Order: sequence, then C-alpha cells, then structure tokens
Amino acid sequence: MRVLVTGGAGFIGTNLVRRLLSEGQEPVIFDDFSSGLGSNVNDLDVRVIRGSLVDLEAVVGAAQGVVMRSCTSGHGDLSRVLSPTPLLHMKSTQLGR
Ligand SMILES: NC(=O)c1ccc[n+]([C@@H]2O[C@H](COP(=O)([O-])OP(=O)(O)OC[C@H]3O[C@@H](n4cnc5c(N)ncnc54)[C@H](O)[C@@H]3O)[C@@H](O)[C@H]2O)c1
Repeated sequence: MRVLVTGGAGFIGTNLVRRLLSEGQEPVIFDDFSSGLGSNVNDLDVRVIRGSLVDLEAVVGAAQGVVMRSCTSGHGDLSRVLSPTPLLHMKSTQLGR
C-alpha cells in the first residue's frame, strides 16, 4: 500500500516511514523541511516530495492514490479539504494503526 507520510522527515514521521518499510509498504514522504532534516531521510529508499501542507495544489497532487498519515502539527483534518482525492484515512500524529 502506498502511504503518504506528511511530516515524514521529522521524528515521528521518520519512525513511521521505517515501520512501514519494514512491513513491506510503500511510504512517500511529504515534508517542507522546516524542521525535518535531509539526514533523517537520506538513507531511506523512498520517494520524497518537498512541499508544504499550506499549498493545497501540492497536497492534492501528492495525495493521489495514497493513504495519508500526518506527522505534522496544527493543520487540522485535511481529509475535509482533500475529500475529492482517494483519501482513505488520516489521523494526526498517529503512529501505527
Ligand atoms: N515527538 C514526540 O514525542 C511527540 C509526542 C506527542 C506528540 N507529538 C506531536 O507530533 C507531531 C510531530 O512531532 P515530531 O516530533 O515528529 O516533530 P518534528 O518537528 O520532528 O516533525 C514535524 C515534521 O513536519 C514538517 N512540517 C512542519 N510543517 C510542515 C508543513 N506546513 N508542510 C509540510 N511539512 C511540515 C517538519 O519539517 C518536520 O519534518 C507534532 O505535532 C508534535 O507536537 C510529538
């Protein structure tokens, strides 16, 4: 399953990405690197999209065909904004299932 991990270069996001990889999933990182570090993701064999959650076009583009997991703060429930996309699930700052 392809999973978009917003905030995927941060602490929780990076750990979630590693967990998803260990489960054979296909995580995609979406992060603006405002606090996340390239060194957190350089060793990960995943697609990294540099973009901000405040850029709706970028988010909608990145969210095509993925399940979303959010590991950022203060952005509320994006599922309302993204309802036309194949958004299956989104839970803020949730690690695991
Ligand atoms: N680390 C913890 O132990 C912990 C515990 C409970 C809750 N939380 C909450 O979980 C969330 C993530 O925590 P963390 O420790 O992983 O933080 P973090 O700062 O390490 O990661 C947040 C990531 O989100 C990215 N980001 C921020 N704004 C963005 C935007 N507009 N668009 C795209 N990416 C953006 C940052 O670049 C960063 O990579 C926070 O809301 C935090 O308060 C963290």
